[in-house]
Amino acid sequence: MFSFLQLWILPLLVAAAPSPLGWHFVQNGSTGVIPIEAIVVSPTLAILFDRVQNDPLQIDGHNAWGALWNFETNTAMALRVVSDTWCGTGGFLSNGTMVSVAGNVAETPDTTDGRMMIRLFEPCTDPSGASCPLIEDAQNLRLAQNRWYPSSLRIFDGSLMVVGGMHELATFYNADPANSFEFFPSKDNGTPRPSPFLERTLPANLFPRVFALPDGKIFMIANTQSIIYDIETNTETRLPDIPNGVRVSNPFDASATLLPLNPPHFTPEVLVCGGSTKNDSIPVEELSAQDPASDQCSRITLTPEGIKKGWIVERMLEGRVMSEMILMPNGKVMIINGAQTGYGAFNSVLNRVAGEQSNSDHPAFTPVLYSPDAPLGSRFSKEGMPTTDIARLYHSVVTLTPSGNIFIAGSNPNDGIVNTTKFHSEFRAEYLNPPYMSVQRPVLHDVPANIPFNHPFTVAIDVPAKIRANNVKVALMDLGFSSHGFHSSLRLVFMDAVLARDHKSITITSPPNNRVFPPGPAYIFLTIDDVTSTGAHVIVGDGGAPPVKDQGIPLRF
Ligand SMILES: *[C@@H]1O[C@H](CO)[C@@H](O)[C@H](O)[C@H]1NC(C)=O
Ligand SMILES: *[C@@H]1O[C@H](CO)[C@@H](O)[C@H](O)[C@H]1NC(C)=O
Ligand SMILES: *[C@@H]1O[C@H](CO)[C@@H](O)[C@H](O)[C@H]1NC(C)=O
Ligand SMILES: *[C@@H]1O[C@H](CO)[C@@H](O)[C@H](O)[C@H]1NC(C)=O
Repeated sequence: MFSFLQLWILPLLVAAAPSPLGWHFVQNGSTGVIPIEAIVVSPTLAILFDRVQNDPLQIDGHNAWGALWNFETNTAMALRVVSDTWCGTGGFLSNGTMVSVAGNVAETPDTTDGRMMIRLFEPCTDPSGASCPLIEDAQNLRLAQNRWYPSSLRIFDGSLMVVGGMHELATFYNADPANSFEFFPSKDNGTPRPSPFLERTLPANLFPRVFALPDGKIFMIANTQSIIYDIETNTETRLPDIPNGVRVSNPFDASATLLPLNPPHFTPEVLVCGGSTKNDSIPVEELSAQDPASDQCSRITLTPEGIKKGWIVERMLEGRVMSEMILMPNGKVMIINGAQTGYGAFNSVLNRVAGEQSNSDHPAFTPVLYSPDAPLGSRFSKEGMPTTDIARLYHSVVTLTPSGNIFIAGSNPNDGIVNTTKFHSEFRAEYLNPPYMSVQRPVLHDVPANIPFNHPFTVAIDVPAKIRANNVKVALMDLGFSSHGFHSSLRLVFMDAVLARDHKSITITSPPNNRVFPPGPAYIFLTIDDVTSTGAHVIVGDGGAPPVKDQGIPLRF
């Protein structure tokens, strides 16, 4: 005979058993340092950079502030870093070298001033990374100006462009601006280019949101303003402001992305979501951690007609500040992390949670998926999205991995390591696994390591028997560099692809030229009927050291 208890327990047990399908958060491993910045540097590794502080991970008899995160073992190995990397940026060059730029003044005897540093991490084929050093050479590898809180971007000639920032430690607004652009390798004999746009957007223009357009020009957003910058003529063209006075760069961090580019026209569209409508002439000590973040998304098509139309406004399901956008290989946009109220930074605004330093509150625990092609008004969805209980606020990162899941780490809205409060220093690494991680996936075999532009190539594939192959997408992706809610150089270009009748191979055509996809490292993902393969690592273009010449064929508009 069933007892009352048994009758009730049975359905509860069934409900509690994790379903293998669907989206899942999985917590695994400890990062040992706080990842303020993160970039995937090989199929098995990501570099994590912190500020110099009391991190548990040790190296050379002191605390580490850099680490190699291993996606296979879910462990962190200390990386030897000399200069302070706090609040820098970075990206890849056309020849596959990763460049980390900028940082903070030296705050301990174990470190040196990082503000002008350029650090190199050469292509690493050791799966553990043990034999791959970070190269620093303060005499020969340096920026022209001190920079803290700049952005960066790989451009059409394979160089890294460095944008803005400030010279000195300032705790909230940009009080000592570096209102200029420079490049690595340098252009103009190393003289930075002054920017009227950065002047106009003070004091909330840190970590400008910058994007490489398919014609090689640069679209930039800071504070409430936007421009197109032409590197070749050094001219700025002002574009419409973000509607309704929403401010979108640090310390009012919104997330922003270039949406996936589609052949044959590769029409660029940019989406920027969240931020704050507060006036940036309000002194920081009069702002509140309880001020609601903006729920506004603004989207613009960067063609002459699109610019004439201006920004089109839509609304997220909640306000968000410091969230991040990840492009998924199927072309959707994941909006994840951040808070629903407050601002970036710590220890500076009113109404912080008692005992907390965080300038923000009400963490956003549930990711949102944005479908760029759905009709206006029905693009945001939390359907099937799991909810985490780990707050990812200021100084947290997220990135798509070469396996196709999402790595999430960090959060430290504190001055130093604090382990005892609600918004403590967060060392737990977590993955968000899409549904395709728990089913049989398509497999790409022997993808060529180097892919020229405008070049058809055929790849052997395995397609799971159950898949009907009604919908085939091949994405070429730069996974980007995560720092302060912005994912520099993140890019997805869909490539024309023809599946063989027998489903045993696919013929793919690479992007037409180095402006549609700035030359350098990338991952190719195959998505069939919404099931995505793991990513294949390639170098797109001739693999030469920057600046490289134009390659491929011109785009016809
Ligand atoms: C803080 O927590 C981390 C992770 O649990 C631990 O490794 C570290 O030793 C702690 N640090 C301090 C200062 O208590
Ligand atoms: C954590 O990752 C390790 C290494 O990949 C794996 O062996 C282990 O099963 C994982 N644990 C969980 C709970 O997923
Ligand atoms: C912000 O405040 C300043 C100073 O009070 C004022 O001049 C300006 O018009 C305000 N801006 C907006 C967008 O309200
Ligand atoms: C790539 O180019 C940069 C800049 O010239 C150089 O420092 C780096 O060593 C090069 N990397 C490789 C792998 O050749």
